[in-house]
Amino acid sequence: MKKIMGIETSCDETAVAIVTEDREILSNLVLSQQEHIEFGGVVPEIAARAHLDHIDSMIAKSLTDNSMSFSDLDAIAVTAGPGLIGGVLVGAMSAKSIAAVHNIPLIAVNHLEGHALTVRLTDEVELPYLLLLVSGGHCQILVVEAIGKYKKLGGTLDDAIGESFDKTAKLLGLDYPGGPAVEKMALECTDHKRALKKFPLPKPMINKKDCNFSFSGIKTAVKRYVDQLPENIERQDAADICQSFQHSVNTVIKNKCARAIEEYLKLYPEHKNPCLVVAGGVAANKTIRASLENLCRDYRLKFSAPPLKLCTDNAVMIAWAGMERLKLGMTDDINFAVTPRWALDGDVNINNLTKKGTKR
Ligand code: KG4
Ligand code: ZN
Repeated sequence: MKKIMGIETSCDETAVAIVTEDREILSNLVLSQQEHIEFGGVVPEIAARAHLDHIDSMIAKSLTDNSMSFSDLDAIAVTAGPGLIGGVLVGAMSAKSIAAVHNIPLIAVNHLEGHALTVRLTDEVELPYLLLLVSGGHCQILVVEAIGKYKKLGGTLDDAIGESFDKTAKLLGLDYPGGPAVEKMALECTDHKRALKKFPLPKPMINKKDCNFSFSGIKTAVKRYVDQLPENIERQDAADICQSFQHSVNTVIKNKCARAIEEYLKLYPEHKNPCLVVAGGVAANKTIRASLENLCRDYRLKFSAPPLKLCTDNAVMIAWAGMERLKLGMTDDINFAVTPRWALDGDVNINNLTKKGTKR
């Protein structure tokens, strides 16, 4: 039975995991860096140094926890992008060293592919499936046609949805990361109707007949309310704004996913088990999960999402994407280059790009 180690260092989580071919998670270590809290956002240089401080001991722990050594690994998978390049480099160099010294295959994983494929580890989901990928840096609707083959149906024209949660939280003086903080605060809203009436927020592009999004206007509207309120915003006002914010983004997402479902069903009319998957950090939001689950019920589609702790960044998803690739013989050259930007659609071959020196 094959075992793969995954390494993830593309943002502010240092993560190491080991998964098996038969979908067992042997190790799932995630260190969420606390160094950024005082800045209200991730500081790339601090993140890279913190990854460097912790990665070796976490790799060692993942093995010793399982009484394993490097020779028990069949491959090593690592995030090669997109992300903060200093951190990605730390992970990639660790993985390359292990692959070189222990002579095991190396797999360069697109972080977004990690999010996209996690449900195949935790659930039975058939290809092609519709995917709403919502994280701190990305917001896209794609069809996962095959491993490494993605068809984009739409995406954000400005902010990613997680980013708009984070910015809203920052405006309200809530904790970082903002998504969980806004979700928690919204639960304190005692009157949904009052919240929407007192702090109505736009639902950008909701009537456009496509699968694209725009979230920056919602954040700007939140800023306008915050500017009008006293400096120490009353808790009930903050809760009402969070509730109204969540309502707006959720309504937009539901509407755009409905369009995407219609397009997907037209593209694959013969599909026996069509499915909508939501993945990425924002997929941890219970309101969004519940509303997409309802939408799928209306369309008689299967709904799937990773368990909450595998929605936000982790290395299980990287190890699993590596496993899917290894099974298809899709391993990578030790000279692969890391990349801060790497679109999921478009069949990018990271090895060819490296060799040709093409600018990504
Ligand atoms: O996938 P992820 O961990 O990192 C990226 O690849 O970006 O996503 C992080 C994003 C952050 O913007 C965070 O605020 C958001 O996911 N997030 C949430 C929730 N948990 C994390 N947004 C809304 N509700 C949540 N419960
Ligand atoms: Zn992510």
